[in-house]
Amino acid sequence: MGEVADGLKDIVASESSISRIELEGEEAVLEYRGYNIHDLAKHSNYEEVAYLLLYGELPTKTELELFSEELKERRELPPQVVGLLTHLSPFSHPMVALRTAVSYLGTMDRNISYTSHEISIEKAKNLIAKFPTIVAYFHRIRMGEKLVHPDDSLNHSANFLYMLHGEEPTETMVKAMDLDFILHADHEFNASTFAARVAASTLADMYACVVAATGTLIGPLHGGAAQRVMEMLREVALPWRADQYVREKIERGERIMGFGHRVYRSVMDPRTVELKRLAEKLSKEKESKWFEISVAIEESVRKYKNLLPNVDFYSASVYANLGIPDDLFVNIFAIGRIAGWTAHIIEQYETNTLIRPRARYVGATGRKYIPIDER
Ligand code: CMC
Repeated sequence: MGEVADGLKDIVASESSISRIELEGEEAVLEYRGYNIHDLAKHSNYEEVAYLLLYGELPTKTELELFSEELKERRELPPQVVGLLTHLSPFSHPMVALRTAVSYLGTMDRNISYTSHEISIEKAKNLIAKFPTIVAYFHRIRMGEKLVHPDDSLNHSANFLYMLHGEEPTETMVKAMDLDFILHADHEFNASTFAARVAASTLADMYACVVAATGTLIGPLHGGAAQRVMEMLREVALPWRADQYVREKIERGERIMGFGHRVYRSVMDPRTVELKRLAEKLSKEKESKWFEISVAIEESVRKYKNLLPNVDFYSASVYANLGIPDDLFVNIFAIGRIAGWTAHIIEQYETNTLIRPRARYVGATGRKYIPIDER
């Protein structure tokens, strides 16, 4: 039996042609299907990126129009799913609501167990289109507000903000949301994508794989970190209090949420670079304090622990400035990531080898069974 790699640290588990992370000296490169994340952030939009991840190529104008139309047509939820959302406890975490709704959608798909390319792409488009609606509907239901149905005149990001807030977002808000969805759309073998691929490797249905991914993303060491970052920003409340807060937390041996990364250890995650810029822009426009507090925390964490902020750190102030409630942060991550999850599930189906590692046993061995009355 080989070396034990706890947490599969630095293990190359499989090949993939979806996204590439390369650490090149002082810089980290992230590409989706060969396209640099900074180029996509500057020139693309979420629908185009979702297409790229699913089909492997950038769409032509006609292909993109058709794909965007298809997403629009699929936005509305079946009445049974709306009914389910109204029956869930309003105290349920919105991410639990999302994964329950995904599972329920599976009960309505007659092709649930088919894994062919065409059928899988159909399911993927359906999930990409419906994720924003599930999140917005559940939020409005739990707040006792009337549902705001999808608006076909709006793009993916604008429509989500419209359904969530009940009013048309400004262009700045739409651009910010779209950029955030692009940046979260894929990231190689992160924990939730890997969970989806483990499920896909057994040829489980796509809904089961996505439920596995959503169940993994919610954890505070993964996508659940952004909500904790916001709690920290609220607790710190003023930039000058950041230093003492960070020092004391580190002295107590506690983790600072939004810092550290399995892959980007000494170079900055390129997504963080984009999100930091966006957080600054939005905080200035909204005259909010979140960016300033975040920068003060970043400086102190670098000073006391030499850790870099990860993708979840500046996401928090971006979301707060977009008026998104803290407990929806991880759902926002999922709305972006569903494109990557489904692309990976399809890739796993098509290149499949069952994922089944070994464990080195370290427990007791050879024990003699003792009848219950004699214990
Ligand atoms: N605060 C304080 N110390 C930290 C932190 C942190 N956020 N992250 C890592 N460290 C320390 C850790 O204590 C360890 O120190 P030592 O070697 O002295 O024991 C060292 O850095 C290495 O940490 P690790 O836990 O072995 O590294 P890992 O690759 O297993 O963990 C991580 C990566 C993301 C789980 C971890 O950095 C962490 O817990 N971060 C906070 C949660 C967070 O922000 N998660 C979001 C991750 S990025 C986006 C995503 O996946 O959603």
